[in-house]
Amino acid sequence: MNEDIRSHYTRGDLLQRLNAALAADGADPQRPNAEALAPYDHFHGRGLEATEDAAALVRPLPTDHLLDVGSGLGGPARYFAARFGCRVSGIDLTEEFCEVARHLTRLLGQDERVDFHAGNALAMPFADVRFDGAYSMNVSMNIADKAAFYRELHRVLKPGGWLLLSEIAQGSGDELDYPTPWAASAQASFLATPQQTEQGLLAAGFEVLHVQDSVDKALAYGTRSRAEVARGEKPPHRAVMLIHGELALRAMANSAKSLADGRVLPIEVLARKPAPRQPQDAKL
Ligand SMILES: C[S@@+](CC[C@H](N)C(=O)[O-])C[C@H]1O[C@@H](n2cnc3c(N)ncnc32)[C@H](O)[C@@H]1O
Repeated sequence: MNEDIRSHYTRGDLLQRLNAALAADGADPQRPNAEALAPYDHFHGRGLEATEDAAALVRPLPTDHLLDVGSGLGGPARYFAARFGCRVSGIDLTEEFCEVARHLTRLLGQDERVDFHAGNALAMPFADVRFDGAYSMNVSMNIADKAAFYRELHRVLKPGGWLLLSEIAQGSGDELDYPTPWAASAQASFLATPQQTEQGLLAAGFEVLHVQDSVDKALAYGTRSRAEVARGEKPPHRAVMLIHGELALRAMANSAKSLADGRVLPIEVLARKPAPRQPQDAKL
């Protein structure tokens, strides 16, 4: 299974493709800035806009160490580190993504605060109670064993630590058309409903603070992107084209259709690992 997922995301020539895309945009691939990279390195629905929305739900401190699970090319990790001054460690199954993420992080001079590890979200090479907060953007759709995923996130978080999931949830339950941006076939796609996600997090020991869908925002983003393309401009989100090449057009069309007809729902979930009760709490 993990091999299917890795091969779905691995290109072999990702850095060359990214450099060519940056050059075509008029950016210097050897000195890109976060703005030039943003269409490519936020590899999830609504790109940078969704990362900004996710970040608005949490307030990391500069002293915090965050975990980005399924960190991709590292756009969200570099964004959180730059915006909040915190440290971020990413982990991702796809080694090529980790290599490109490290390269870009060095070019942006953020490698003292942001690091990437190749590995599996279900068996992370991190000590217990290590992170102040964790987030994962558009990753759990590749993870069948959600209970193990939530348990592992709970294990590495400190008491009181937050967890932010930005995912594609199952909507109506009708079958999806493949490919999608996250899976070539149904064999690698595991969507949970918002209710199943909430129940799974509770069962793993989290408190669930917020579950919200962003369907309207996603539909509006799609409408804006299509209008830009119709005007002859580049769409704001180009990560799927970068990574999946020819397959991307079908994957994006399938995604747009299943969003419009309610088969999928983008959701944001904020949860917290409860902190142990303090003696003074008992008096309240
Ligand atoms: C759609 S991409 C999202 C990347 C990144 N979160 C972002 O938003 O830019 C999904 C990512 O999840 C990673 N992934 C899937 N299953 C994983 C697992 N079990 N452990 C770690 N990473 C995984 C993939 O390699 C891929 O990089």
